[in-house]
Amino acid sequence: DWTMADFMESESKRIKELVGDDHVILGLSGGVDSSVVAAMLAKSIGKQLTCIFVDNGLLRKGERDLVEQTFRGHFDLDLRVIDAEKQFLDDLAGIEDPQEKRTRIGHRFIDVFKDTAAQIKAEFEDQNTQIKYLAQGTLYPDVIESGHGYAGTAANIKLHHNVGGLPEQLGFDLIEPLRSLFKDEVRALGTVLGLPENMVWRHPFPGPGLAVRVLGEVTKPQLDLVREADEILLEEIVSNGLYRKTAQVFAVLLPVKAVGVMGDGRTHEQVVAIRAVESQDFMTADWARIPFDVLATISNRIINEVRGVNRVCYDISSKPPATIEWE
Ligand code: XMP
Repeated sequence: DWTMADFMESESKRIKELVGDDHVILGLSGGVDSSVVAAMLAKSIGKQLTCIFVDNGLLRKGERDLVEQTFRGHFDLDLRVIDAEKQFLDDLAGIEDPQEKRTRIGHRFIDVFKDTAAQIKAEFEDQNTQIKYLAQGTLYPDVIESGHGYAGTAANIKLHHNVGGLPEQLGFDLIEPLRSLFKDEVRALGTVLGLPENMVWRHPFPGPGLAVRVLGEVTKPQLDLVREADEILLEEIVSNGLYRKTAQVFAVLLPVKAVGVMGDGRTHEQVVAIRAVESQDFMTADWARIPFDVLATISNRIINEVRGVNRVCYDISSKPPATIEWE
């Protein structure tokens, strides 16, 4: 892609000149946008970049490993993984209201990020280096306000968690290398930068993560359960060649129990809903016409392999009026 190769060269030069001898910090979520920013900055300023990845305990299975492998292995950058699972789960204990869950997660994220950034800042000041900049994966549609209310990626702190002014509070200037790009251009840029295909073509994942996919109260066992179901679901979607044909696919754990039968006995276990949508801009979406035999395999595998689940439902609602997420 020539256009993106040119863009990469000119933007990388611009950033290098702008940053000079200073240092840049980036919140890396593992989503496409922040990953492309990380790769872009790694190319342009190398070791003058430090990435913060917050493990909030609400991630999909293997998510943290994938980010570590990609960026430590492939790009060799200064990646700080912050294990904050306990803090997030403590905040969520006993909370059932979806908006309250989001608010608490947002505030905790800001706290953890701020603390970490302050620590890293102090660490660099000891070596006489200023961390002057905070990088964000803002895209052009985020700049012009896309409308769904959580534009950008989880690392796009300001928009995502609806908390304004964080870069200013932290005393950073913003760097937004993707500000002029649309999503398809960001993917092309990621490819040119050498990001693996499974990062470049990732489905979006919400900032509050699995907390909005465990309906009602979020606990570690419930998160583990949805993680298992979700992993099986994605395995089947990928192996049946459906990942690129869908915009988002995920499992939702419902807070109800259904009756089932096993051997001579009855079971009383939970229900998993499968959500798979096609969408261009996530403002509207249609449920994906996943072939019945793929759905059959997914259902059989989840019910057989995930303990505590005896029923799987397929969500056939369009947006609007249903949203893509259930909470
Ligand atoms: P809905 O459910 O509103 O979702 O149809 C539209 C898109 O936004 C994602 N989403 C979020 N992203 N923070 C985020 O970063 C959030 O709180 C949030 N809620 C929904 C959702 O996954 C879909 O891609």
